[in-house]
Amino acid sequence: MRILGISGSLRTASSNSATLRAMALLAPPFVDFVLYDGLASLPHFNPDLDRADASQPPPCEVCALRKSIGQSDGVVIASPEYAHGVPGSLKNALDWLVGSVEFPGKPVAVINTSPRAIHADAQLREILTTMSAKLIEMGPIAVPYDAKEIAFGLTLSDKLRAALSDLIEAMQDP
Ligand code: FNR
Repeated sequence: MRILGISGSLRTASSNSATLRAMALLAPPFVDFVLYDGLASLPHFNPDLDRADASQPPPCEVCALRKSIGQSDGVVIASPEYAHGVPGSLKNALDWLVGSVEFPGKPVAVINTSPRAIHADAQLREILTTMSAKLIEMGPIAVPYDAKEIAFGLTLSDKLRAALSDLIEAMQDP
């Protein structure tokens, strides 16, 4: 099976991206855990570019995102909170998926790496529910802030390792 990880952070040393990289390492051999790397290059969402009767297909970056979603059995989103909200770049990607045939019914898990970031987490769940995603409900997964060490797999506590592995398992039977 294939799981697509989407980080809501464009930061090089992002703890959210590092968490998804850790999940890719923890995934069993039969799970292809792929990280989406196109968030920064997606154009701003514009419904004019996304109409069924438009003379042109949507921008190629959008087609690539939708294709990647379509090829995946599930999606894991790990995102920071900015000003009590979902980061604009992540919301932009989700807006491009609203009118897609690939997204509705897709199993999606949300990882909240910061226990304080309750607003973005709640917003993300509301948005995904509105988009008819199949939300995978798991307990909160808190990730220590030292992203650099997580990136190299040094500070994965047993608890965090178990939580991320449990999430991968839950994705297999959504
Ligand atoms: C933040 N952060 C933040 N945290 C939070 O709990 N509530 C908030 O409203 C905000 N707002 C906010 C605004 C801006 C402009 C920045 C740069 C940061 C903190 C942020 O969510 C936290 O550091 C994340 O862990 C960063 O994630 P990455 O980049 O490490 O993946």
